[in-house]
Amino acid sequence: MRTIIEPFRIKMTEALPITTRGRRAERLAAAHNNVFLLDAEDITIDLLTDSGTGAMSDRQWAALMLGDESYAGSASWRHFERTVREITGFEHVFPTHQDRAAERILAATRLKPGDIVPNNSHFDTTRANIEYVGAKAVDLPSPASKDIYSDARFKGDMDVDALERLIATEGASKIPFCMITVTNNAAGGQPVSMENIRNVRALLGAHGVPLVVDACRYAENAYFIKQWEAGFADRDLIDIARDMFSLCDGATMSAKKDGLANIGGFLACNNDEWAEDFRNLLILTEGFPTYGGLAGRDLEAVAVGLKEALEFDYQRYRHATVEYLASKLIARGVPIVRPAGGHGVFIDPGVFCPHLGAGDYPGIGLVNALYLEGGVRAVELGSVMFGRAAAGGEAEAPALRELVRLALPRRVYTQSHFDYVVETLDLVWRRREAIPAHRIVRQAPFLRHFTAHFEPFETR
Ligand code: F0G
Repeated sequence: MRTIIEPFRIKMTEALPITTRGRRAERLAAAHNNVFLLDAEDITIDLLTDSGTGAMSDRQWAALMLGDESYAGSASWRHFERTVREITGFEHVFPTHQDRAAERILAATRLKPGDIVPNNSHFDTTRANIEYVGAKAVDLPSPASKDIYSDARFKGDMDVDALERLIATEGASKIPFCMITVTNNAAGGQPVSMENIRNVRALLGAHGVPLVVDACRYAENAYFIKQWEAGFADRDLIDIARDMFSLCDGATMSAKKDGLANIGGFLACNNDEWAEDFRNLLILTEGFPTYGGLAGRDLEAVAVGLKEALEFDYQRYRHATVEYLASKLIARGVPIVRPAGGHGVFIDPGVFCPHLGAGDYPGIGLVNALYLEGGVRAVELGSVMFGRAAAGGEAEAPALRELVRLALPRRVYTQSHFDYVVETLDLVWRRREAIPAHRIVRQAPFLRHFTAHFEPFETR
């Protein structure tokens, strides 16, 4: 088999900052040891997130020029709406500036204090928006996801038995909707099978509970289904995506991921009553329903990007890139979640740093060591992001698992960039016992990882 190449060539370049270790040490200290607080000009390879960081295609840049900036009923809006309807099949489409705005509108209009929203795994913003209105966000990841080193497929699935128990003990009336996140970001970018979505749908249907898909990485999930699930090998990605959406009653979407755009999102559904509530709140907080929080040109870029993400050659290259990085790290003994996820490689910082406990925030230690070694920015998805801070007399609760994510921006970095990342990680891996424990010296009540201040300290 021949090398799977990038199915594009480069028309414009953007200089990468090459920095010295001294400079990086100084900048990290000034950022209170939180890489979210660094300036991008001090970062060489930025794997903080795959959200809004992708490179747009020439077709998207050309579409920007077609942006119709009319306040109401613009042609760009019609292009956007037509495209979202074509892919998702949903009748009502609401553009938002990004996904969390869609989540906020969904939570604010459908939930009341005491309600429960199950999900295979809530992303942090989804959880925060649900909790902000006094409801409870419950994660029901599949039992297979607990063994992060097994090569089992579809470890992003929801635990259907646990969902059944939840409905039996709490009652369907306390569950205004259930969510399913494709791919499952918090569980290592693992995909969800069509069979699982179907089973979740069947169970919910019997209890009259609607299903809302968090569709941020729907195209990457569709590719996994095509590759792995029986009966899908010959289907086009767009048909697989349509099948996924047809099992759901609504969707929240971040166009910053599989919309291949730098900003944008949407909320969609079929229910007229939901749509009326969404529209009213959208007008109040995002904008008129034909632009949401977006410019006409953004709507155009997203409309083109949503389709490009479903191109087979693009997804094949994307998955091959993640595989490439994962296989090089596995060969060096670096502990990573398997199989490789759809949008990144997830490292296990607890095993990477056996000298540190969860309370020492090993993920922060590893992220900071990577930055100091090579100017590579990764992100902690562990007890800082998903754990619960001590509050109201309750002690701090760690996350289900500690992870560090190397998220791959779409169409941005080449193979040699990833070789550099592997070399940098290898150096950190060889000197891993030098990674220090960290403590939090300042934090916010919600989404603390973005702004917390950390301090390294000696444990011995
Ligand atoms: N749902 C999932 C599964 C996500 O990964 C994200 C964002 C969101 C919802 C919120 O979308 O940023 O458009 O408001 N994830 C990014 C990440 C930030 O780095 O994984 P948004």
